[in-house]
Amino acid sequence: MDDMEKQLPNARQYDFHRLKITKKHQLTNSVFELQFEVPDHLKEKYRFRAGQYVGLKYEHNGQLYINDFSMTSAPHEENISLGIKINSGNSSTRDLFHRYAVGDEMEVSEPKGRFTLVSKPHEFRTIIGFAGGIGITPLISHFKNILHTEPRTRLYLFYGNRKSDEIAFRNELDNLARKYGDRLHIFYFFSQEDTTDNLFQGRLNEQKLKLIINQILHLDDTDEESTIWDAVDEVLICGKGEMIKSLANACYNNGIPKKNIHFELFEEYNEDIYPQEQEFPLVENIEVEFRINHRTFSTTLENNRTKLLQQLLIKGFPVPYSCKSGICGSCECYLLEGEVELLENEYLTEKEEQSGKILACMSVALSNRIKLNFDMV
Ligand code: FES
Repeated sequence: MDDMEKQLPNARQYDFHRLKITKKHQLTNSVFELQFEVPDHLKEKYRFRAGQYVGLKYEHNGQLYINDFSMTSAPHEENISLGIKINSGNSSTRDLFHRYAVGDEMEVSEPKGRFTLVSKPHEFRTIIGFAGGIGITPLISHFKNILHTEPRTRLYLFYGNRKSDEIAFRNELDNLARKYGDRLHIFYFFSQEDTTDNLFQGRLNEQKLKLIINQILHLDDTDEESTIWDAVDEVLICGKGEMIKSLANACYNNGIPKKNIHFELFEEYNEDIYPQEQEFPLVENIEVEFRINHRTFSTTLENNRTKLLQQLLIKGFPVPYSCKSGICGSCECYLLEGEVELLENEYLTEKEEQSGKILACMSVALSNRIKLNFDMV
């Protein structure tokens, strides 16, 4: 594996093309927006779905970096807009901000990612989003897309930041709220700033969700028999691992099926999102061989107390993942040898399972030897 790939340990390979920067705009002290134009001959390759991301190739400290950034543009806007956080210190994104200007070209990957929703333009849906900090970026894309394509769907956004001056995309969100006031409701939360109402003070987590359900998502004008929370069809969550874990479990414990809770992790996160509920006979010294990005790796796992994906990630292998919960399909692979138990699966069809496909994030090894192929999917 070369240095370049080391910067991108968990993604499958995608094609890159040179795109011209058409806009660069600082939104807050630590967030800026970068927009690219897609020339006609590449339009087909850059067709994307709300919630997806692209990779950017750029240099920092003499090394080539590839980092992924979610798009804030909606598909109908026909451009690639990104919200990028300038991390503190001598970070690669600080370099990215200073080094590139409008008119420059950058290598941008084709769109990828599974933090997407099936569009239902004819339905009356209720969709809620939770974002923490820069985790707002894919939600903006989703919300703009839904407001544009689903005339009856209503949206609630709960957006947490440390302070009000750190809210990225505030203008864009306020403009959307003005334009679609009857269908879009936005609530801001601050963990390090006083608010007049305590409800909006503190982090977005399980406790906060209880208050949100009781105080915001209660009486439903459109259906007096139920609450707004009862009507929620899909939940979108994006931010840091702890926030996602807390909110996803809270949503699930409050009645939302796991397949309707979608999330995108904005950092490496070495924990399961949902607790494991089943127990299995102990298998020790498990030899695992797997193929990914045309390379073969092998390792020995101590036992089967943790799911396959998790163990491979802890050992530093470049295994692709996104939800770690059997929902998005990022970790799908073929089981070529050995036996596993697939604990939960909201993604593979019965036919795919029969053909030998598994989801590494939800699989527990039941034999001493396991052989996988991530390249055949
Ligand atoms: S990481 Fe999403 S299904 Fe495995």
